[in-house]
Amino acid sequence: MTEFEPFLNRDEIHRLVADIADRISSDYKNNDLVLIGVLKGSFIFLSDLVRQMTIPAEIDFVGASSYGADAQSSENIRLTKPLQIDIRDKRIIIIEDIVDTGLTLAYLIDYIESFKPSNLKICALLDKRERRQVDLEIDYVGKIVEKGFLVGYGLDYAERYRNLPELYCLKF
Ligand code: IMP
Ligand code: MG
Repeated sequence: MTEFEPFLNRDEIHRLVADIADRISSDYKNNDLVLIGVLKGSFIFLSDLVRQMTIPAEIDFVGASSYGADAQSSENIRLTKPLQIDIRDKRIIIIEDIVDTGLTLAYLIDYIESFKPSNLKICALLDKRERRQVDLEIDYVGKIVEKGFLVGYGLDYAERYRNLPELYCLKF
């Protein structure tokens, strides 16, 4: 039977998100900003984040997905939803729920840079280091996670559990 071990409760998540919102709000006080959420996992994080920010931001989403669960290279990643707004010469922050191998993010950085933004930074609620395959600099991190499979607060296991308001570590 699958067990759920509590990982972060509502208050803990709220504090991590508020801290990132404060840092972004002060770093971009005098600059236009576009937040690009990575579907589907970031939809709850992004919606909480923008409501705690004190500066305006344009919002768009991109979708990316691996071809198979055993995807070993970024060539196995495909775009499931393209960018819709014009980001040329704009300041961008990519919003991810969790970075694991880093392959999805590496693919999306290439994709987004092809539209020639003036600046590109990365924000991830969770930075899971154990299986990282690509060297990435994540500018805004909520929490570093050593390992484990997390669900809730937008994160799924086989499309389930995204709706859980708190984060859990799945024990298989
Ligand atoms: P990466 O390409 O290996 O860095 O991971 C890409 C995506 O896999 C993330 O954006 C998540 O959507 C998903 N993912 C990675 N680790 C977890 C996890 O622990 N729980 C739920 N989804 C995960
Ligand atoms: Mg994701």
